[in-house]
Amino acid sequence: NPQKTIYEMIGGGETIRRLVDAFYKRVGEHPGLKDMFPDDLTETADKQYLFLTQFFGGPQLYSEKYGHPMLRARHMPFAVTPERAKFWLGCMREAMDEIGLEGPVADFIYDRFIQTAHHMVNTAE
Ligand code: HEM
Repeated sequence: NPQKTIYEMIGGGETIRRLVDAFYKRVGEHPGLKDMFPDDLTETADKQYLFLTQFFGGPQLYSEKYGHPMLRARHMPFAVTPERAKFWLGCMREAMDEIGLEGPVADFIYDRFIQTAHHMVNTAE
């Protein structure tokens, strides 16, 4: 199939699982982020796994379980500042590097993270 999805190009669910684990390991240790997240990140990581699977063109796992993502609305209970968006993106970039997600497809993915992270900002510094 010449029209491969990003999901297929990066190695499917196995890669997304590794990315999510590497990401929340950092979030849970980040002084600017950890206090806004639950101590136990298991459920958060599972939701992100379901979400990123569909975000990158895989099965619509998140929507099947939780309905429309409405990502910005779901972030409204939290103060997402520009600084925290920068921290979030830093954790994601490092997680991508850790699992060896690199090259043009990784750059494309990271661009989408940048756009989405900026869209989540709902609070001034
Ligand atoms: C949930 C913070 C950006 C996807 C959450 C939660 C927090 C948070 C505190 C709730 C965690 C929980 O209670 O389990 C942030 C911050 C961001 C950011 C500070 C910085 C910009 C993003 C981006 C994405 C994303 C860019 C997607 C690419 C999600 C998803 C959930 C979530 C899927 C779970 C929603 C649910 O079903 O409750 N985020 N987030 N977030 N975030 Fe973010």
